Amino acid sequence: MNDRPALLGSSPIFEERLQFAKPDLPAFIDIADEVRTIVERGAVTKGKHLELLEEALATHLGVKHAVAVSSCTTGLMLTYQALNIKEAVLPGFTFMATASSLVWAGGRPVFVDVDSETMNLDVDLAERAITSRTDAIVATHNFGNPADVSELQAMAERHGLRLIFDAAHGMGSQFKGKPVGCEGDAQVFSLSATKLLIAGEGGVVATNDDELAKKIRKGREYGNNGDYDSDFAGINARLPELSALIARHSLNKLETAARRRNELKGIYNEHLSALPGLGFQRVRAGNRSSYTYFAITIDPAKFGLSRDGLAAALDAENIETRRYYDPPVHRHRAYRDYATANLPNSDFLAAHSLSLPIWSQMSTEVVSRICHAIERAQRYSQELKLALNPSTSMAHA
Ligand SMILES: Cc1ncc(COP(=O)(O)O)c(C=O)c1O
Repeated sequence: MNDRPALLGSSPIFEERLQFAKPDLPAFIDIADEVRTIVERGAVTKGKHLELLEEALATHLGVKHAVAVSSCTTGLMLTYQALNIKEAVLPGFTFMATASSLVWAGGRPVFVDVDSETMNLDVDLAERAITSRTDAIVATHNFGNPADVSELQAMAERHGLRLIFDAAHGMGSQFKGKPVGCEGDAQVFSLSATKLLIAGEGGVVATNDDELAKKIRKGREYGNNGDYDSDFAGINARLPELSALIARHSLNKLETAARRRNELKGIYNEHLSALPGLGFQRVRAGNRSSYTYFAITIDPAKFGLSRDGLAAALDAENIETRRYYDPPVHRHRAYRDYATANLPNSDFLAAHSLSLPIWSQMSTEVVSRICHAIERAQRYSQELKLALNPSTSMAHA
């Protein structure tokens, strides 16, 4: 049968490069009038779209305040600053901005391991890492999979700690049937281009805490009270009107996007669960992942190829993938000095997980073809291994 992988000489499954993610933006015709108004009136910032977006998001998330900011990173920085977080327990397997924003705000990260199946902060390990210096627990809804919200809330209460969620991937996620967003002291979302709700670049801090919302609103404006006599060192973290406009339209499509991504995950699973050595992120019963990213883990002994081998095979098939998060954040040069504990699950996931393409309007045919590429890589894994690493054959010769 001539169904050899492209890396072994066949034609790639995709003729053109298949992107890892594709932003699902509104049709231009649907925003053209409003864009014209923004441009002609020069109302490019702090206008009605920001206000309407914040109102709509607060309603959608079921929180008192949704404060829109320029990114999830600036939202996290302002949240840590406003809550005066000097030390926080956070996962090693997360995006670098969870930690960088804390350091920018003058805080110290204490990295803790994640659960290898949910890929989220391990609550027991987090509890064991709490000391008298700990101010906050920070959990990421990794790839859109809701963190262990109830257990984290109970733990934060027991120890009198702040609880902050890095909800960068959380738009479209549901905890016990409701959008994640109202739990903890704050949930900070990203509206960047790979997310389900897109502003271009942007973020949202969702909170029920009036004082916190007030500080973040001031913090996104340099700390200015309005009298140009700032009472703390803020930044410019405003969300421009054009971005707010795009996000408002994107919000209308959020539920459809989340449902479609869950269907796509089902199709991926149908094909891939038949193959040996592949693992999937576990979403707890009653919750819904946004599938902002769709990650699989690869056991090289069973699959026949390592994660990097599979990524190389897919690359030759013109399929883009991402190695989220390799290296894990506690091993980044910037944060090595903070890392004290061994985090075997974070290390394992960093080395073995691969995020496959997913976007809200992806067709079933595209997923099937990606799965076909993975199937044929697995079938020819031994030949691929030799092609990728000829020294192995020499060593065995
Ligand atoms: C877990 C996590 N936190 C924070 C961020 C930063 O988001 P932004 O690019 O909106 O600052 C990202 C980016 O995707 C992320 O994945």
